[in-house]
Amino acid sequence: MLKIMISGITGRMGKLIAYAINSIQDVTLVGGTSLRSAPGQIDFNGVSVQIGNAPDQIVPKTDVIIDFSEISATEKLLDCAVKYGKALVIGTTGAFNFEKLRQASEAVPVFYSANFSLGIYLINKLIPVILKTLPVEEYDIEILETHHRWKKDLPSGTALTIGQVVASCLGKRLKDIMRKDQSPRNCGELGISSIRGGSAFGEHEIMFLGREETVKIKHAVLNRTVFARTAVKAAKWVTGKPPGLYGMDDMLSSLI
Ligand SMILES: NC(=O)c1ccc[n+]([C@@H]2O[C@H](COP(=O)([O-])OP(=O)(O)OC[C@H]3O[C@@H](n4cnc5c(N)ncnc54)[C@H](OP(=O)(O)O)[C@@H]3O)[C@@H](O)[C@H]2O)c1
Repeated sequence: MLKIMISGITGRMGKLIAYAINSIQDVTLVGGTSLRSAPGQIDFNGVSVQIGNAPDQIVPKTDVIIDFSEISATEKLLDCAVKYGKALVIGTTGAFNFEKLRQASEAVPVFYSANFSLGIYLINKLIPVILKTLPVEEYDIEILETHHRWKKDLPSGTALTIGQVVASCLGKRLKDIMRKDQSPRNCGELGISSIRGGSAFGEHEIMFLGREETVKIKHAVLNRTVFARTAVKAAKWVTGKPPGLYGMDDMLSSLI
């Protein structure tokens, strides 16, 4: 039985991951951390699990950590995962210290994805095909993302990942072509716009806007369980792998 700990266990995603663990075979929840959890045991689906605000108390008892929390917590967790030699799945988004992530992945297996949905994975696979086929110099490319009013990072990690796929297809660096304002666009720029409001779980639209036709691909999350279940599958997949930085492509490429 694979033992899993959740960092961010009291959060919207943390709770869903705990439920997902309960419904997936060969995995068990040993505990979790959050910013304000007092150390103790809680009953979860009839099983007593350890919670607290100090990862050091729980990490030694787990095989793999799933982190959907906040970047400062994630960065501390990377040190803890390395200290105890534990695999780590990270879904937290925001302005990461990617160098720290990369360094940790030299010591333990780290699975990172800004979006755990299969639909977004497929869109990222489709973009190179679209950009190879369309005469890109005749098209403007825009990404529009909509999220619930509480989301802290902007643009979303997923919009930035999609932007990176577009930029690399164009042979550019994202920071050189990304535009987040609404002023007139220059040729070759990539616009990313964000809307915050309501309780939308996450919508991303990628638009290829030409003079004679427009191609739009839209993805909407209807239920966050989609992220939770894939995160647990990633935990099963990454545990026991050699140290390295892994992502959705590594886990899912055999599907395509
Ligand atoms: N990759 C994906 O597919 C995906 C999908 C959805 C969300 N996300 C990302 O996952 C993260 C969590 O989202 P959410 O909606 O679940 O957020 P949330 O409801 O605000 O929950 C955040 C959790 O992290 C804990 N936390 C916050 N700051 C902390 C700190 N400094 N140290 C330790 N724990 C801390 C919170 O503890 P308290 O409750 O004690 O404050 C809570 O348990 C976000 O970055 C979000 O963008 C990623």
